[in-house]
Amino acid sequence: MYQSIPYQSKSDDKKRHYSEVMDRVKALITNEDDWVSAMATVVCELHHSFDYYHWTGFYRVVSNQVLKIGPYQGGHGCLMIPFSKGVCGAAAKNKSTQMVDDVNAFPGHIACAASTQSEIVVPILNSQGETVAVFDVDSDLPKAFCSADQGGLEELAKVLSRQFFS
Ligand code: SME
Repeated sequence: MYQSIPYQSKSDDKKRHYSEVMDRVKALITNEDDWVSAMATVVCELHHSFDYYHWTGFYRVVSNQVLKIGPYQGGHGCLMIPFSKGVCGAAAKNKSTQMVDDVNAFPGHIACAASTQSEIVVPILNSQGETVAVFDVDSDLPKAFCSADQGGLEELAKVLSRQFFS
């Protein structure tokens, strides 16, 4: 059902894989207007398509400067994150992707699993440029993410922003 890709793949292979996954995601959420259903579908597709994705999920902005967990796959994720904490809080506050090669070197990293070594978090913005959610991926491998992952996940964020928050 899923063709996964190893993290050592060449950048061009990763980019091609993200494009194929995005085509599947767009087909699955076509005409969907329910944000929770879309988040659950995105998490499922992405989590099973990359073998270095060990925790994949959304955090939603639920009040001023507070994130709460959304649909995810992997072990238990912490339920609430203030914008002042963690990699997710930094992505939400700065409205920019946080790609962390070594989570132990990130001040204030929140370890939902002791096995996490690297992480990437991408903000989802609305049409006013405000953060409405973040998409968080943890890997148990060091330096698991590269520019191809960042590009693929930022494209995903744009698609979701356009469809649900424009
Ligand atoms: N590591 C994240 C917290 C979420 S758990 O990884 C699922 C952070 O530092 O914000």
